[in-house]
Amino acid sequence: MRITVVTGSASGIGAAVSKALQGAGHRVIGIDRQNADIAADLSTPDGRRAAIDAVLERCGGVLDGLVCCAGVGATAPSAGLVIGVNYFGVTALVDGLADALAKGQRPAALIIGSIASTQQGADSQPMVEAMLAGDEAQARELADALGAPHVAYASSKFAVTRYARQKAVAWGKQGMRLNVVAPGAVETPLLQASKDDPRFGEAVKNFVAPLGRAGEPHEIAGVVAFLQSEQAGFVHGTVVFVDGGMDAMVRPASF
Ligand code: NAI
Repeated sequence: MRITVVTGSASGIGAAVSKALQGAGHRVIGIDRQNADIAADLSTPDGRRAAIDAVLERCGGVLDGLVCCAGVGATAPSAGLVIGVNYFGVTALVDGLADALAKGQRPAALIIGSIASTQQGADSQPMVEAMLAGDEAQARELADALGAPHVAYASSKFAVTRYARQKAVAWGKQGMRLNVVAPGAVETPLLQASKDDPRFGEAVKNFVAPLGRAGEPHEIAGVVAFLQSEQAGFVHGTVVFVDGGMDAMVRPASF
């Protein structure tokens, strides 16, 4: 039985991914702040270390899959927290579990990015370079100083996507796959919090995909389960948009 770790397993997309993978025969080890197999706070180095240690103990040091869904939106208490969870909470787990994955069967990891990663300017924020350099203190400081949590969110998703793509060559040589799924708006508590926020609520509600609706968590989970399966054995280092056509609408000439 394949063993797959899912972060953010208690809610939204992570809960749907856990269900889909269980349905496909995986043994899922869920990580979340609460209501999970492993309760851990991925916003702190100690929490990340504790999560990695607990996973290695449960899987005996051999892992087949990892799906990083845990994340916070632009309504998080601080922009620094967005960076801490969405970038460092992801990359610490991918790096910390890479050796265990290398010992697994047809290992595959996946990061939930976002269509926000393509937002204009998200790629050029100084905090992006700080994230990619692994300097959490500076990245958080730059994000907090900017005082624009929605920009920190977009930049965290851009940086984590670039991080994944930069790993494609080294991971591929080890027979390990790593992909990113970039959802558009999906009906989860995170999206609802954005819709309810007086700062961004109207913009979020008015940004409607060509298909005319937001997605449901199971529509992201189905694609994730496919990408983690043997049928997707040649899909590696790519970004799959699952967004009702939003990316095509906004960036028709980029692909
Ligand atoms: P959600 O709020 O339903 O689920 C996020 C989960 O992450 C929660 O269970 C939460 O407890 C967990 N989490 C947050 N901070 C954590 C921490 N410090 N330590 C451990 N766990 C933590 O949100 P949703 O929408 O399911 O989000 C999942 C991923 O999808 C996130 O990375 C989000 O950025 C991404 N996403 C969501 C979109 C949407 O419209 N819902 C659109 C694009 C991307």
